[in-house]
Amino acid sequence: MANKDLGAIVLAAGKGTRMRSPKSKLLHPLLGEWLVYYPLRALADVGVKRFVIVVGHEAEEVKSAISSLAFLQSARIDYVVQEPQRGTGHAVQVALTGLATPAAQWIIACGDSPHLDAPSLQALIDQKGAHKVSVLAANVPNPFGYGRMITRDGKLERIVEQRDANDDEQKVNLVNAGAYAVDHAFLADAIAKLTPKNAQNELYLTDIVPAAKGDAVMCVAKSSDVVLGVNSQAELMRSTAIVQATIVHTWQERGVTIEASDVTIGPRVTIEAGAYIQRGVTLLGTTAIGASAIIEHHAHLDNMKVHEHARVRAFTYGEDSEIGARAQVGPVSRLRAGSVLEEAAEVGNFCEVKKTHVKSKAKAHHVSYLGDAEIGSGTNIGAGTIICNYNGFTKPFSRIGADVFIGSNSTLVAPVAIEDGAYVAAGSVITEPVSQETLAIGRARQTNKEGYAKQLKAKLAAAKKK
Ligand code: UD1
Ligand code: CA
Repeated sequence: MANKDLGAIVLAAGKGTRMRSPKSKLLHPLLGEWLVYYPLRALADVGVKRFVIVVGHEAEEVKSAISSLAFLQSARIDYVVQEPQRGTGHAVQVALTGLATPAAQWIIACGDSPHLDAPSLQALIDQKGAHKVSVLAANVPNPFGYGRMITRDGKLERIVEQRDANDDEQKVNLVNAGAYAVDHAFLADAIAKLTPKNAQNELYLTDIVPAAKGDAVMCVAKSSDVVLGVNSQAELMRSTAIVQATIVHTWQERGVTIEASDVTIGPRVTIEAGAYIQRGVTLLGTTAIGASAIIEHHAHLDNMKVHEHARVRAFTYGEDSEIGARAQVGPVSRLRAGSVLEEAAEVGNFCEVKKTHVKSKAKAHHVSYLGDAEIGSGTNIGAGTIICNYNGFTKPFSRIGADVFIGSNSTLVAPVAIEDGAYVAAGSVITEPVSQETLAIGRARQTNKEGYAKQLKAKLAAAKKK
């Protein structure tokens, strides 16, 4: 079976009762992505461009989440609501009802199966070939709860559910992973003829197998993990660990040093060879780590671009920002959305940067807040400098030129305009523009009164005695 004119029907109407959570099971987080991201991503990776998604519980939230997924932006997605939910066969019945132009072939998969991967799906598609249907199966040590694959002379005959299985059938370790590749014409016919003759009084999708009359095949997955669905919070944690181990292994194979297994690395993250990821690090979203960058322990980076040889020191939190080659940030610093540190810029210890462009080799080494600003290359921002970027109403933009020296504990009231080569004396409050190579001193002048210290101390001591 070629992957062309291949659609997917994704079953995602279930309530997920055992999650005991007010939100849809499919929108629970797994390494920074929604649970439903994983099967949809695998489907997209085998070339599916058209999806029919069966929703029910929390339908609106599920729809808007799926519609926002970047990799589905060019896909055609139809949502159908299944209400009430009368089983997996009923879900597919609802999916096929009213489809103007059906795909020639479908993959049917469940929205709560994070371990369904593209290689398994491709094997399932290849196995189908010219057959009516192929079913993804896996050998598991404990088959309890799954549909058992019942074969005769090695051929798949039917699938029997836990509740309908006799003692012999319950001993079968080969189980239904819940993913199918199937011809539309056969599916439409078989689905229309389903009856709820089973312990749950539901329409079982699995009953399409006997309907294929010997022309159903199975594809046994390489890893038994593929069957694992998420039904509870404990299972979500287990699946998170499994997906994480796979991701970590992938990057290790590509030359990334990962200090310990307690890292969190999302599925969209990319890391170049030679990077060093220390323990407790969290990398999420579209974060991209360049070659030989060092991400020290417990840094948290979400949608960050970190260039080669950059160093992110411990406990730094960065989101939607960029760290240039050989730049350094942290420890314990925060880069808020829209910040850019150019090559060899240095920010931290204990600094916060928001929507600020710090040009090459500029430095803010100690306890600063830089907001809504541009800092020119080679400029030095002294300890404790604050850009007062908010007047209670607006956030004006400030521009500090190249090779400027801002003395410690300066307060720069936005909008400030400090030109190249200017020098701001420590402790200044800057409210006026400072032109090129100008020295600005914005503080009260110091006065010294000789001998007054002695007099003052005597006066204070006398007052204390009274
Ligand atoms: C199903 C299979 C079983 C297989 C197992 C793999 C059937 C009859 N059984 O069992 O052989 O081993 O999956 O995980 O198909 N859903 C709907 N609408 C419904 C019912 C279910 O959309 O009316 C969705 C659920 O949200 C879920 C998926 O279908 O994503 C599977 O449903 P679930 O009830 O978990 O199926 P199982 O009983 O586990
Ligand atoms: Ca069920």
